[in-house]
Amino acid sequence: MNEEWDAAEHGGSEYDFENRMVAPEYVPEDAEVENPLRPKALSDYIGQEKVKENLAVFIEAARQRKESLDHVLLYGPPGLGKTTLAGIIANELGVNLRITSGPAIERPGDLAALLTNLNPGDVLFIDEIHRLSRSVEEILYPAMEDFAIDIITGKGQMAASYHLPLPRFTLVGATTRAGQISAPLRDRFGVVLRLELYTPEELARIVARSAKILEIPVEPEGALEIASRSRGTPRIANRMLKRVRDFAQVMSGGVITYESAKLGLDRLEVDEIGLDANDRRMLTTLIQFYNGGPVGLETLAAAVGEEAVTLEDVYEPYLMQIGFLSRTPRGRCATRAAYLHLGLTPPGEDGGGQQRLF
Ligand code: ADE
Repeated sequence: MNEEWDAAEHGGSEYDFENRMVAPEYVPEDAEVENPLRPKALSDYIGQEKVKENLAVFIEAARQRKESLDHVLLYGPPGLGKTTLAGIIANELGVNLRITSGPAIERPGDLAALLTNLNPGDVLFIDEIHRLSRSVEEILYPAMEDFAIDIITGKGQMAASYHLPLPRFTLVGATTRAGQISAPLRDRFGVVLRLELYTPEELARIVARSAKILEIPVEPEGALEIASRSRGTPRIANRMLKRVRDFAQVMSGGVITYESAKLGLDRLEVDEIGLDANDRRMLTTLIQFYNGGPVGLETLAAAVGEEAVTLEDVYEPYLMQIGFLSRTPRGRCATRAAYLHLGLTPPGEDGGGQQRLF
């Protein structure tokens, strides 16, 4: 890519987040790969064993009693399959799925319209449920608890209040930030399930399954190579599969082998543990300009030419998760593991003549 052109396009930032291979967040382009790949039954869903075992019991019990399933809260990092699970729940219950999100429900009336259009037993999926406004949340409480809403229309003398019964339904809420959900909302979910990052072996099975559906020949070693670089996240793995396919087509007769996966991902600058060029640049800057920290977020952001919020929201979560970066009261620090990964010598481990001399 022509870097000068790119920098000009993106206000001095060197690259475009929308195209970031290792971003776990959904981008519209993902739909093309994700939609045909979403498993429809719990038995096709790979990984999250504890979540699956529990859900299977709750779904079966609700079905036997011919009741609606209790409300379910799914939480965990983005890209792990929360929307997919909501679809599976609806499918296994044999009911409709309605999908919306916290920010999309702007006014109480928007939620009332959604709720009154549900059929008995339906699943309403609210993604990013931590972003509901307070006034919308207040409509949701009686809806979840009593399957009814109270609506006030008009003002002054024209004001009227209606008590509207709703069909029994199942709310499936999803959030990446369980801590940001208000206590009254959290308490109204009977089932709370935490999704975890997938192991490379689970991701390799997901890649193999996706490749089969998309009719892309893949060798087990190729699937594992993609899996190892996908940060525990199926969305990233499926995105990589699509891109690596192009390298395989040109290099290895269309078959994704270990070599073509490695070459493709090396070219995309995603390393063996899933760090991209920007992750490495941030760590290298922290280590080489600031002796590994502590350094303030704003200072570091200026040095790498990004906004502080970008560092905080885009790069730091994964680097902290894998123990490469720590946030301390005095600023950001690179850990020993980060030095070693970048092939640099951690402080105090250079065989240190100087320290002993003085
Ligand atoms: N695609 C995305 N996530 C998946 C999962 N957990 N199982 C199977 N296919 C998937």
